[in-house]
Amino acid sequence: MSLTTLKEVLAYAETKKAAIPAFNIDNMEIVQSIFKAAEEEQYPLILAVGQAAIKDGRMALLAASARTFAEKSSFPVVLHLDHGQSLEQVRMALDCGFTSVMIDGSKLPFEENIRISEETLKLARAAGASVEAELGCILGTEDDISHDDNKPFLVRTEDVKAFNEAITVDALAVGIGNAHGIYKGLPNLDFERLAEVNDISVVPLVLHGGSGIPADMIQRAISLGIRKINVATEVRLAYVKGITTAISTGDFYPIANAGKAEVYNLVKGKIQLFKNGMVD
Ligand code: 13P
Repeated sequence: MSLTTLKEVLAYAETKKAAIPAFNIDNMEIVQSIFKAAEEEQYPLILAVGQAAIKDGRMALLAASARTFAEKSSFPVVLHLDHGQSLEQVRMALDCGFTSVMIDGSKLPFEENIRISEETLKLARAAGASVEAELGCILGTEDDISHDDNKPFLVRTEDVKAFNEAITVDALAVGIGNAHGIYKGLPNLDFERLAEVNDISVVPLVLHGGSGIPADMIQRAISLGIRKINVATEVRLAYVKGITTAISTGDFYPIANAGKAEVYNLVKGKIQLFKNGMVD
């Protein structure tokens, strides 16, 4: 199957009242493990390439690897740019065949966020790709990108309304107290705000910072309209944990396979959790 768009898989998620996982991919072993789990679960998949991987020169390599696996898969796969930082980066991703791009204008003044999202839409539509924008801030640090924690970070319903009136993107990431990285203690998610935002949003909502959010909170977020959930840190930690336990073998394949096994187990569990709300 060739790569599909974010818009398409989120429409599917809406019919099932479920969420689609977006796993960050950083190397080929991680891609292999994610596909193995998704193949067994027969569930759509979003493969996200983030800023650390891009900084390390992996964008085109990861895109090629994702495409190769997707072509053999029997379920829909989206190749997505995570936290796109500029129009230039969006162009690069589209040139590499990404079928979805996120533009992270959340640090910009509201009007500029609209403007850069609009420009991104033009580029993406010309390439047949989807667009995710962000309102409110995701706390914490990921791939050296962090937010000033003193800045108001919770998404405001009036901003969602004004944003939706100005432009129509395909997905909207919202800051509801979620954070990148592992939470210190229990996440403090503002579910009331999520419900309000979902009531007025015309586009599906995205939850970033999925690592470490307990299952009951994930299910509640899905029941309140979250249709895409991003997981990066836990994937990397699982891979590192796996290779660390096998490192004493000093042998490449046992080490690589131990990393893959941990990622597979993690991803399988996340897919089962995220599709839980599914109605047949
Ligand atoms: P975590 O690293 O906390 O899972 O967040 C992932 C994410 O939101 C990627 O955009």
